[in-house]
Amino acid sequence: MKFTVVTILPELVEPALTAGVVGRAREAGTIAVTTINPRDFTSDRHRTVDDTPYGGGPGMVMKPEPLLAAIAHASTAHRIYLSPAGKPLTQARIRELAQLPHLVLVCGRYEGVDERVIEEAIDEEISIGDYVLSGGELGALVIIDAVSRYVPGVLGESTSVDDESHSASLLEYPQYTRPLKLPSTRDGELVREVPAILTSGNHAAIAAWRREQAIARTAVRRPDLLARFTPTVADRKRMARPVDVGSRTHLALVHHPCVDRTGKVITTALTNFDVHDLARSSMAYGLAGYHVVTPVTSQRDKAAHIASLWMEDASGEHRAQALRLVRAADSVETVIANLTAEHGSAPVVVGTSARADAFSGAIRRTAPELVAEARENPAPLLILLGTGWGLAEHLIPSVTRVLAPIEGAAGWNHLSVRSAGAVILDRLFGRPT
Ligand SMILES: C[S@@+](CC[C@H](N)C(=O)[O-])C[C@H]1O[C@@H](n2cnc3c(N)ncnc32)[C@H](O)[C@@H]1O
Repeated sequence: MKFTVVTILPELVEPALTAGVVGRAREAGTIAVTTINPRDFTSDRHRTVDDTPYGGGPGMVMKPEPLLAAIAHASTAHRIYLSPAGKPLTQARIRELAQLPHLVLVCGRYEGVDERVIEEAIDEEISIGDYVLSGGELGALVIIDAVSRYVPGVLGESTSVDDESHSASLLEYPQYTRPLKLPSTRDGELVREVPAILTSGNHAAIAAWRREQAIARTAVRRPDLLARFTPTVADRKRMARPVDVGSRTHLALVHHPCVDRTGKVITTALTNFDVHDLARSSMAYGLAGYHVVTPVTSQRDKAAHIASLWMEDASGEHRAQALRLVRAADSVETVIANLTAEHGSAPVVVGTSARADAFSGAIRRTAPELVAEARENPAPLLILLGTGWGLAEHLIPSVTRVLAPIEGAAGWNHLSVRSAGAVILDRLFGRPT
């Protein structure tokens, strides 16, 4: 594979190609990289390659003649102009470029190149990201590095490229090497261990774990990539398996701190329907607990009483099962303390709201992103449902995640807390239909 870099700064390109995978591939002759300098194609004493832009404006523009002559000298092979206005580079395009025998990589400088150079001599414009560099050389190096990995003989193991991030619209699974236990330098108590599955010797289980991790990571970090991913039948099962997260998820119906329509902090009153219906939804989606949060002792007693009525009803065992999930607490902080003691780690506290700008300090998650993230983190999840006009955000600093509001096509989304709770649970833990 041959690369020709057209650049007025060959000294920037050369040193980066002397070490590592690319350096070894050059030494072995598997790839060849040469540079051509447009200054060598100038005819004036100062070897001028730039001029002022027609129409005015800041900076200089690369003159067409030396650049066109340099490109023509390079070859008629596929010619790429590195440009922030080009098509964003992807692994799929890298794989295609690696099929070509020779790439000419044209590097701009200053404010860019005269547009007619692109019209005359460029086959493709590529951007290496949505930011502006001072020249195309780093972009050319990026292409040389990424393409070379696909050239036979450059990487030791021929399969390693296919496993990597982006090769199937998935990010790569986490990697570990020795030692097995690594004391944390951030948290004195903590020892970071390699996941046990990786030392189990069970290769099928390791492959399944890695695939699951790759999917979960991609869902959290790059939902845009996951949207392009085509899952296998086994992947579909993995992605539809919500039970492990549901069984460490708790729902809390918060009666305080909430706000009224003016924004004033209030305590709302308990309703029989809320206790009852959300307990049944929590049961249906496999939750670990449903907490009714109110500082009013008599209201907590009432919640317990409502639940116990059903539990004592001999003919209503299916409802009794659901109402056994009901627990009353005086505050969100008490629920967090209880869950921390029960699960051995503090819950990830998730706010909900009908408003898109709620809990602005928290990380916004869609339901699939939240589940995917929870699969990676063994902590319990605590989902807070507000009453009245919603949760009093400023009084619940423990919220670190916020779910996107439920919205239909109508542009009106004032659902009852029971309906919102059911929709949220279905989005998080419902089986796809
Ligand atoms: C300072 S930039 C010119 C930016 C240009 N004025 C614009 O706003 O689009 C100089 C050169 O750097 C290269 N370059 C800058 N950012 C790039 C990117 N994100 N991807 C590829 N090449 C880039 C191009 O070759 C460009 O001609």
